[in-house]
Amino acid sequence: MVDAQQTDAQEYGLDRDCTTLSRHVLQQLQNFSAEAQDLSALMNRIALAGKIIARRLSRAGLMEGVLGFTGDINVQGESVKKMDVYANDVFISVFKQSGLVCRLASEEMEKPYYIPENCPIGRYTLLYDPIDGSSNTDNNLSLGSIFAIRQQEGEDVDGTASDLLQSGRKQIAAGYILYGPSTMLVYSIGKGVHSFTLDPSLGEFILSDENIQIPNHGPVYSVNEGNFWQWDDSFREYIRYVHRTEGYTARYGGAMVGDIHRVLVQGGVFLYPGTIKQPEGKLRLLYESAPLAFLIEQAGGRASTGNQEILDVVPEKLHQRTPLIIGSKDDVALVESFIQKQAKEQSENMMERSRVPQ
Ligand code: AHG
Ligand code: MN
Ligand code: MN
Repeated sequence: MVDAQQTDAQEYGLDRDCTTLSRHVLQQLQNFSAEAQDLSALMNRIALAGKIIARRLSRAGLMEGVLGFTGDINVQGESVKKMDVYANDVFISVFKQSGLVCRLASEEMEKPYYIPENCPIGRYTLLYDPIDGSSNTDNNLSLGSIFAIRQQEGEDVDGTASDLLQSGRKQIAAGYILYGPSTMLVYSIGKGVHSFTLDPSLGEFILSDENIQIPNHGPVYSVNEGNFWQWDDSFREYIRYVHRTEGYTARYGGAMVGDIHRVLVQGGVFLYPGTIKQPEGKLRLLYESAPLAFLIEQAGGRASTGNQEILDVVPEKLHQRTPLIIGSKDDVALVESFIQKQAKEQSENMMERSRVPQ
């Protein structure tokens, strides 16, 4: 006789194992339209890139020529690591001959990369940060990849990708791959946030959590406090506040994919404010801040520059940087309240000065 409970458990296990990423995308769209098929195929390719990068990272310490610097400086003025180049090329390679993506824009390339054979039919553009948290690469610590998909619109008439200079509201999908103890892929196509874990024995990303909601408030504040001396007073005041208030804990891993993943799950805030050396901060809008803002908003959180929602910022150039305050609604609002307070004090001081007779 068949044991009903055992059958249920088996079915549950099977269902779970069969909820792969590409199936999940189709389930979310509830149809098999050309667009749904495209999105499913796009996500499948991104997952393949993640698997190839994860495979290389997992054996990096045993292989020659994988770790360390290339000796080049990228368009950001940052030293390039061999893994940055490898991961950048992986994304290009998986999208070749896909018929999906006509061009890819990445942190590591001054101009977008065209895949001419896809261009007559490729209806999407992929923006990505191939390795996020490069400084962790040689230490076997968490890393990430960040991606966003936009509809191909307009024309890159002057070769500057000016048609890409649109707000984050134009993203149709975004997410990240986290290379940690396990490899996870977290994505949104504008219908909630869902996480998948790579099962190495299957070689598939299998659904872990659906419709993730970020808590409205959490204990974590995640920021590089080594930059304290370079910040505006408002950020210093916020940090002084959390230092003397019970209930906060600092976490900073050097790769924002990992830090923001923690904030997504536990609640809290991740910040990268402007500094004296980099007044707009370090993070790039189009392939770092905007995709993560899309995801966190979908989970019920917020992302702000301090003065504007990240998703409303219209960039003026491809590699534009932006300050970032991202995470739980209440915690983002708390940081903003310090910025607003400082702005108010500054304007009152100016008015006061203008009243004093010269
Ligand atoms: P990338 O490696 O793509 O340049 O991005 C690194 C980013 C981000 O992931 C991380 O949070 C931050 O830079 C770390 O910068 P600091 O070392 O200045 O804290
Ligand atoms: Mn990055
Ligand atoms: Mn990077």
